[in-house]
Amino acid sequence: MKNKNFYIENYGCQMNISDSNIITSILLKNGFFLSENLKKANIILLNACSIREKAELTLKKRLEQLKFLKKKKKICVGIIGCFSKQIKNFLLQEKMADFFVNPDSYREIPNFIYYSTIGKQYFHVAKKNETYADISSIQNNKKITTFLSITIGCNNMCTFCIVPFTRGRERSRDPYSIIKECKRLYKNGYKEITLLGQNVDSYLWIDTIQNKKNIVNFSKFLDLLAKEIPYMRIRFSTSNPHDMSNQVLKVISKHKNICKHIHLPVQSGSNKILKLMNRKYTREKYLFLVKQIRNIIPECSISHDIITGFCNENERDHQDTISLMNEIKYNYGYMFSYSPRPGTYAYRKLKDDVPKDIKKRRLKEIIDLQIKHSFYRMQEHLGNIEEVLIEGESKKNNQYWYGRNTQNLIVVFPKKSLNIGDLAHVEIIDMTSATLIGKLCK
Ligand code: SAH
Ligand code: F3S
Repeated sequence: MKNKNFYIENYGCQMNISDSNIITSILLKNGFFLSENLKKANIILLNACSIREKAELTLKKRLEQLKFLKKKKKICVGIIGCFSKQIKNFLLQEKMADFFVNPDSYREIPNFIYYSTIGKQYFHVAKKNETYADISSIQNNKKITTFLSITIGCNNMCTFCIVPFTRGRERSRDPYSIIKECKRLYKNGYKEITLLGQNVDSYLWIDTIQNKKNIVNFSKFLDLLAKEIPYMRIRFSTSNPHDMSNQVLKVISKHKNICKHIHLPVQSGSNKILKLMNRKYTREKYLFLVKQIRNIIPECSISHDIITGFCNENERDHQDTISLMNEIKYNYGYMFSYSPRPGTYAYRKLKDDVPKDIKKRRLKEIIDLQIKHSFYRMQEHLGNIEEVLIEGESKKNNQYWYGRNTQNLIVVFPKKSLNIGDLAHVEIIDMTSATLIGKLCK
């Protein structure tokens, strides 16, 4: 193979970005070159997402566009990451991609590329224990915040979710390798790390040292990491309400460098729907957890994921979601209408019986409500002096810095002095539902 330039496009969540950093590292070590430009690359890797139907449609559209390039320039196209069996079969049939690599097998990508050039299909056995602990991920942008996966896969089997099928069983990465990696990232200029996992609170590492078991759970790990990298901001996502413990909340409140924000997907406010979704908590337990968070970490922001129009959802269930949102008044959230994913329990056993227009109407109702709540929560910051990590120039006005406060809320303020990567003290003087506007304190 003469030209060994690769280019990666990301389609999914933060976890895909973290995966792309690992893949970049593997390919560079194997003599490939990272190309910043698609036109100069002869290997194009699409880091896929199958979580919702829309994500898969976007991927298909992109592959349609690449089809021409693939024929004309004989480029090699690989699909990596989070893809379903169905899409794999479809794309193979349509000859849109040369190979597919699931998240267990990124180390095999150089072999896959080689085999694709000689027209062979390569089969492999997935490594169920893979955590890529020994790989220092390569960050190919000049940002000061980054992501690191600390757990891979998920054991929860929520009935709507394809992740346990695409990313496999849950496993945790060696805590000492994560600490080492964070220190290395700091040396390379990073000031904030977001620890990732589908279910990050169920992180668990068991070591046997001299016949003694050393058990590191998430609260213990966070505590350890916060002490080891006091100069770095730490965030984490996603917390499954089922696994979040008081110990974790206490560790967050204890350390200044652990950011005061919890992403706590609720999915629905109706107990009937939560049960059908196989979420392992009730509305009451969730509300109690929110109360605990606010007791232990009063300044903590809380965000959510909600699915509307899940199988069997009626107006009463929808109203339960609305009343839960009213009770909590989240800082922000991500809202989706349900799309059945082939292979999941809901796809096989439950009826997708909420008509599209009703799903759409319910989605709009909760989005509108969230905008109101975000506005309400943003007002609470007016007059505060807050610590903001400067991430770059504001996209709307290059005379303003852009950054985030500990609650993960966006703050913009006139530049005056300071640089990207600095911590600024900013007085909040104005706001919209999505942005805090401030001025630099002297
Ligand atoms: N591990 C996280 C969720 C990961 S998926 C958790 O514990 O909640 C990210 C979000 O996508 C989910 O929270 C859910 O709101 C949404 N989602 C997942 N599958 C979906 C589907 N089939 N239809 C619509 N939204 C979905
Ligand atoms: Fe999906 Fe539920 Fe796991 S939403 S990622 S199966 S916690």
